[in-house]
Parts: sequence; C-alpha cells; structure tokens
Amino acid sequence: MTKQQLAVRFDRRLAQQFALQFNQDVLRGLTSEPQKWLSAQYFYDEVGSALFEAITALPEYGLTRADSRLLQRHAAEMVRFRPEPLHIIELGSGSGAKTRWLLEAEATRHGTARYTAIDVSAAALEMCRTTLGRIPAVEIETENATYLDGVRVALRNRQPGERVLILFLGSTIGNFPLPDAVQLLIELRGSLQFGDGLLLGTDLMKPIEQLLLAYDDPAGVTAAFNRNLLAHINRELGGKFDLGAFQHDVRFDSEESRIEMHLRSVRPQTVWIEALDRGFRFGAGETIWTESSRKFTMDGVKQLAAASGFEPRMHWTDDEWPFAESLLVAE
Ligand SMILES: C[S@@+](CC[C@H](N)C(=O)[O-])C[C@H]1O[C@@H](n2cnc3c(N)ncnc32)[C@H](O)[C@@H]1O
Repeated sequence: MTKQQLAVRFDRRLAQQFALQFNQDVLRGLTSEPQKWLSAQYFYDEVGSALFEAITALPEYGLTRADSRLLQRHAAEMVRFRPEPLHIIELGSGSGAKTRWLLEAEATRHGTARYTAIDVSAAALEMCRTTLGRIPAVEIETENATYLDGVRVALRNRQPGERVLILFLGSTIGNFPLPDAVQLLIELRGSLQFGDGLLLGTDLMKPIEQLLLAYDDPAGVTAAFNRNLLAHINRELGGKFDLGAFQHDVRFDSEESRIEMHLRSVRPQTVWIEALDRGFRFGAGETIWTESSRKFTMDGVKQLAAASGFEPRMHWTDDEWPFAESLLVAE
C-alpha cells in the first residue's frame, strides 16, 4: 500500500470515529433533562469555521482583536521564557491568523520555528496551512484531532533539547465548565515536562451590555453560527431541524460569570434525526444550551493555573477590550 493510500485509509478511520462520537454526543445532549445541550465542538464544520472567522471581524466582538494586539506587541517576550528552541503546539488553532506573530518571533530567535496546529475542523486546519504556510522558516504540521489526542500525537517525537510551548488562545478555555477546564489543564500538564509553557488567553469581565452585544450582533452573524450547529446535524446525521423554528438566545449568568448561548424552540415540535433513528420532542420556549463563555478575573486565571500544576510567570492585558494572555509554566 502506498503512503497516499495509507493516509486516505487513516483519514476515513478518523472520519468514522468523529461521526460515531458526534452520534453519541447528540443523543446524550438531546435526551438530557431538564436542560438539553449540544457540545460547542460541533459548531465547527466547514460552514461553522467560516462563520467563526466572520465573527472575529465584527465590530461588536473585540475579543480576537484584543488577543491579536497582545500577541503582536509581546510575541518576542512570550517566546523568550526559555532559551531553547520551541515546539509551538496550538489547541483549536482555527485559522491560526494571530499565531503568526509568535512564529515569526521564534523564527527570528532561532532561524526556524516548529509548529503543530490541532483542530477538530479540517476546514480550519486548511485555512491555517494557507495563512501560516507562507511565513518563511516555519515548519507546519496539522493534527485533525481533539485537544489531548492531538497533543499526544504531536509530542510523540519530541526532539532532544527542544521545549514545548502550548497555545490555548482566544479564551477557548472559557467554553468549559470550571471543573472541566481544570481537568483539561491537569491532563495537559501531565503530558508536558517540567519547565514547558502554556500561553493561555482569557477574556476578562466587562460591562454586561457590551458582552451581550458581542454574542448577539445586529447583523446576525453569531445567530447564524449558533443555528449552523443544527444545520451541521442535518447535513451529517440526517437531522430534520427546521432552522427557522429555533431562535438565537443569549444571556449572562452573573453567578457563574459566563455568557450562555441557547437555541430556543419557537413552538412545540418533534425533530427526527435519521442516524439516531428517533425523534426529539421540544416544548414551546424550550432551549438547547449550545455554548458557554466564562469571563475571568486575573485572580481567577491564577487560581486556574495553580489548581492544574502551572506557575503563572507573566501576564499581558489589553486595555481597550479587557483580555489577558498568561504565560504559565509547568511546575
Ligand atoms: C473559539 S474557536 C478559536 C480559534 C482560535 N484559537 C482563536 O483564538 O481565534 C475554537 C477552535 O477550536 C476548535 N475546537 C473546538 N473543540 C475542539 C476540540 N474538542 N478539540 C480540538 N479542537 C476543537 C474549533 O474547530 C475552532 O477552530
């Protein structure tokens, strides 16, 4: 069997695994009582990844621009936390557009930069290759996998004398309930060596009206992104969701300090999903919880680091749109 045939067979196996997990997660989420939910991971098919890119350009959504400003201004300092060459590994890279500043800084320091992008979205990885592949002296690999599986593969051939810097940008950590975020970082820490780094982006608390607008923009791009989750189920699992029968619903939970996105059923309905061979009943006004985005304080970021075996080393914050990049070092 040629290398290309092997790669095709591997891609098929991976696609089958993803499809099975998708089935199981949708079944679990839509039978959950009293609150139905769907994992935010399934926003990101080809359409979802493109819609996410559009969100990052919205005037109401300052998060990505703030993150980008910090990376552009401080990239040289960020990569300098160790003198050794870095293997930069990004969790949920998306298009990787902001990462260029770090790769350029590392390539300037050592003449070359080794980078692995991990993402469940093949379309996002394609964008990432196109965006970052043009930077001279950057060696790019992509892993179409979930976060920890991707890290395990990326770290299989750790080069002697090389240090690892994990990037978890864009406040994606805020999508996890706090105990799950701690668990993810503990497992990540378990795959690293003492002295490796984690650059963690966290969106900080800001006025609630500003947050609500960021997740419910007047042009309706975020609403389309939210509804695309149902369209993704229709395409991949033979779902019969009528997208017009679900409204984009955004709220802020002050106790948990998080934005929640839901999809609200506008009428009583039963939706059939072919791959699961069953229907799911929705009451009028009932919601599916699709995403959470925690808003942090700097103390919260330090506590998160301490609870998962990292020492907070440096923080950079943006004043225009409160956002922090924190360099955490594996203890
Ligand atoms: C909120 S976007 C952030 C993209 C980029 N890091 C940024 O800061 O703009 C989250 C990205 O993580 C990917 N993703 C979501 N869940 C994932 C998972 N469990 N494992 C790997 N990637 C995931 C999505 O496909 C998407 O590209």
